[in-house]
Amino acid sequence: MFYLTTAIDYTNGSPHIGHAYEKVLADVIARYRRLRGDEVFFLTGVDQHGQKVQQTAEKEGITPEAFVKRTTLKFSDLWQKLGVQYDGWAETIDERHKACVRAILSELKGQGQLYKKAHAGHYSVRQEQFLQERDRDEAGNFGPEWGEVVEIEEENWYFKLSEHTDWLKEFIENHPEVIIPAFRKAELLNALERNSGIDLCISRPRERLQWGIEFPFDENFVTYVWFDALINYISFAGYKATPGAGLPDFAKLWPADSRPVHIIGKDILIPAHGIYWLCMLHAMGFTDAQMPRLLVHGWWNIRGEKMSKSTGNIVDPSELADKFGTEALRYYLVRDIVTGRDSDFDMDRLIMLFNTELANELGNLCNRALNMSQRFTEGVLQPGGPLTEDDLALQASLAESIANYQTAMDEFDISKGLEALSRHIVHCNGYAERMKPWALNKDPENKERLATVLYHLAESVAHAAVLLSPILPDAAAQLADQLNLPALTSLKLADLHWGLLPAGHKLGQPKPVFPRIVQEAAAEGG
Ligand code: ME8
Ligand code: MG
Repeated sequence: MFYLTTAIDYTNGSPHIGHAYEKVLADVIARYRRLRGDEVFFLTGVDQHGQKVQQTAEKEGITPEAFVKRTTLKFSDLWQKLGVQYDGWAETIDERHKACVRAILSELKGQGQLYKKAHAGHYSVRQEQFLQERDRDEAGNFGPEWGEVVEIEEENWYFKLSEHTDWLKEFIENHPEVIIPAFRKAELLNALERNSGIDLCISRPRERLQWGIEFPFDENFVTYVWFDALINYISFAGYKATPGAGLPDFAKLWPADSRPVHIIGKDILIPAHGIYWLCMLHAMGFTDAQMPRLLVHGWWNIRGEKMSKSTGNIVDPSELADKFGTEALRYYLVRDIVTGRDSDFDMDRLIMLFNTELANELGNLCNRALNMSQRFTEGVLQPGGPLTEDDLALQASLAESIANYQTAMDEFDISKGLEALSRHIVHCNGYAERMKPWALNKDPENKERLATVLYHLAESVAHAAVLLSPILPDAAAQLADQLNLPALTSLKLADLHWGLLPAGHKLGQPKPVFPRIVQEAAAEGG
């Protein structure tokens, strides 16, 4: 089982392009793993508790329930629009999740992993956490990233994180494969060094925060939002669930010898996932062989700057999808970023990449393969003529593209996978220009050669449809339809071989799948 999750998005705001990227990336990986023949369970959802939600709801004069119900819909509607197809949906106000969090709290308390103590210190309202001395900047202040910082003294519940950090350090050193990309490992080890000896405050007094999961053994406290949110990866996988609760079978999703993949952004590796979560799992008795892999993606910036509400440079993914189409947006989001690195969101590049690689290159190939077959051979494919060196080179180019695509996609490097495919498409168009089917058609003597050339083009389109399907599922289905081969959409990667289109096969009617994005239309909205 390939169990894949994303971060759950805060519902105190609206989805932005970073959220959209993470969900599309996860959807592409899930679809690719299915294409590879794996059984996949893809979980995503929303993070609904916490002080920020409570405050925003208060400001709007509505209950936090009503507020999160409304904002949650903005996320789920967007995923539907973008074709993000998940198997499980996590909402942290779900009673089944709350029950799981409470069961874990009780169990950890029973094991002596929790204790209560009073603490006086600086508290960041924005980050919903106590600050340490090391959080001060060079001038000795708490920087603007912490927002409003107040001094408070209060009793809270703590989790004995410090009992697990030695284990974690050794685990990370011995299992570098769990942190992807590898360059994040050093960062995590450094942070562990700085964090040693510190326990994690996992409660908030009810008088200050009501919008959270109440402690099962101390009604004066609710659960710290990160402790609550991280548990979604197991609660919605059926951990400690009662049978009949409509949740998956945990043992099947997360067996003792398998590592799920958690997709997260770089800002929530340290400390949330890289330290808290792995230590929480360790305290709950998860084995080393069961620790998840963390696929840490980079950030989309806008003109080199961090996206932020205050500067107003937030890009609305829903508007982009309306303007350019879902497929153009999905393509751009995984094409113009190297997984793990940051990238700059640029509308001109979105248009350029779509127009160059899809409208021109792939569009041209489809047009040649399908249109010319209709015009010259009534859409009927007749391979079987003798093969020339050009034909064999095209077949070799395809085999190489498939191999490179698979290697890249296995490493979660979608943009490299797409580049591998693109190279073959470019090869095919070069082949078409050299073979000139339009010229071959002028002499009936060339009939057999013409059919062979058109076959090579059509067969390449069939392969491209399969390889593109994780990224552009709709376009792939349209291509399969035009090729008159609906079965293409159920093929697995291992089924790919030269000859997907049988001799005598009749192609369907061509229709452009990737109409060019016209610059004027793009310019008007900015
Ligand atoms: O952090 N580019 O929620 P969130 C790419 N609720 N990814 C970005 C991004 C950007 N500009 N901005 C944010 C939370 N993200 C918690 C997670 S998980 C148990 C709880 C990513 O809505 C970010 O890195 O602030 C994170 O992975 C996801 O969007 C949700 O961010
Ligand atoms: Mg965030």
